[in-house]
Amino acid sequence: MYKMIKNLRNSYKLTNKIASIFLLVVFFSSIINSYISYFTNKTILYKSIDKKLESAVLTTNLFLDKKFHDRAISKESISKDENLINTLNLSELANSVGVEYIYTMVQRDDKIYFTSSSATKKELKNNEITDYFEYYGEATPLLKNLLKNNKTMYEESTDRWGTFRTVFIPFSTKNGNKYIVGADVKIDYIQNILNKYIQKIFITQILIIFLLIILGYFFMKITKKEFSELKEQLETEIDIKTQELETLNNSIEKKVEEELKKSVEKEAQLIQQSKLAQMGDMLSMIAHQWRQPLNAISASAINISLLSSMKTLEDSKLQDSSEFIQNQCQKMSEIIDTFMNFVKPSKESKKFKVIHSINEILTLMGTQLNNKNIEVSVTEIDKNLEVVGQEDLLEQVIVNLLSNSGDALDELNIENKFINISVELINEMVSIKIEDNGGGIPKEISDKIFNPYFTTKEQGKGTGIGLYMSRDIMKKSFNGDLKYSDTDVGSNFEIVF
Ligand SMILES: Nc1ncnc2c1ncn2[C@@H]1O[C@H](COP(=O)(O)OP(=O)(O)OP(=O)(O)O)[C@@H](O)[C@H]1O
Ligand SMILES: [Mg+2]
Repeated sequence: MYKMIKNLRNSYKLTNKIASIFLLVVFFSSIINSYISYFTNKTILYKSIDKKLESAVLTTNLFLDKKFHDRAISKESISKDENLINTLNLSELANSVGVEYIYTMVQRDDKIYFTSSSATKKELKNNEITDYFEYYGEATPLLKNLLKNNKTMYEESTDRWGTFRTVFIPFSTKNGNKYIVGADVKIDYIQNILNKYIQKIFITQILIIFLLIILGYFFMKITKKEFSELKEQLETEIDIKTQELETLNNSIEKKVEEELKKSVEKEAQLIQQSKLAQMGDMLSMIAHQWRQPLNAISASAINISLLSSMKTLEDSKLQDSSEFIQNQCQKMSEIIDTFMNFVKPSKESKKFKVIHSINEILTLMGTQLNNKNIEVSVTEIDKNLEVVGQEDLLEQVIVNLLSNSGDALDELNIENKFINISVELINEMVSIKIEDNGGGIPKEISDKIFNPYFTTKEQGKGTGIGLYMSRDIMKKSFNGDLKYSDTDVGSNFEIVF
């Protein structure tokens, strides 16, 4: 969700960027467009002005006497009056066509002379008209070459009347007298039109910029509003989802806690169950261990009573018997002590010798196993091997394994039943192996034996938690493991820690 907001922010920035780029592109392209259109319009304007000048030039001949340029060959050949009439006619023409001046010229040697010319209204009023055969001193070299080239000429030049755009066309009378007709417009006139056009473009440009700014402003406002609405929506969703997650988290935490509590309770229950089962076994072991001293005590008591009834009970004999009975009682008491020691949970870690645990267990279980014709041997043991941990738990594991081996062997009808216990230190790890020749565990069930409640024993004889508990103890309390492997004749359980 936070990623979505980030994406949203990024896309908002991107949209703004794209919009700004778009507006810039529009702005610059409109400027470029203005420049292009200014120059095309300037060209068009020049062309149309040249056309106007050309048509003025071409019409000029109609306003002059047909033979005028056959006659206008020298300074004296045209009278002042005729020149005035020509001036008036050409002025009218210039006025109606819309050009500044129309005039005709001839070339004598290398010089250009006016033969007729229009005049502006002001000039007419002030009687400042151009004289017939007036010398045109500002004539450009190009103009002087015109009659030789015999081509229409376009020129921008400055003379005593101002700066003009001019068209010159060379003509020839039937008699072969050459003359030039020219027509001018003032550059100011063209510049005025162009200035007006530039003004127009400028105003349009400003309008476009203004429009773009307004457009950009509204676009930003709209997108900002939309994005902030979207962001708000997303944030609300995030809040809701966070709350949902928190609630879910809380309920999960609660559930986990409950399950943990349950599993701890179950574990405790299992330990208790296993302990009770072991205590049952222990009681039967005690019964076995006690039978022999009890029998001896009983026999001794019967003997005393017999001797007493026969009046042959000597003091020394009584003393011996009493000592013997005391010894037997001492033995029984020791058995009880060992049992109590085993049953009483120590709960605390301490340093202990592995051989001590094994001896204690054998004190309790040895007789019972021997009664089942099982030979128990302890090999490869370092008598001083010490470990740290809860001794009663390790004993519980070894008792489980020994009773399993005992149970398996008891089922069999074979000679030389044995259980071998070995203790080794391999790579700084303690390894206690309990091997038997009880036939082992069928392959198809061997991977289930560590499951809780898995037993092959009939009801009442096994709960199926012995191995499960033992492995659990090794893992949790000794940071070790309990593994099973089969041998040719039976099972091999290995405790490593
Ligand atoms: N040494 C062994 N030889 C043959 N089978 C064994 C041996 N040890 C364990 N098993 C098999 O593994 C099963 C599970 O053993 P486990 O100690 O977990 O339970 P149990 O002995 O059946 O019951 P419990 O120990 O709870 O009284 C046994 O029922 C038995 O089939
Ligand atoms: Mg068992």
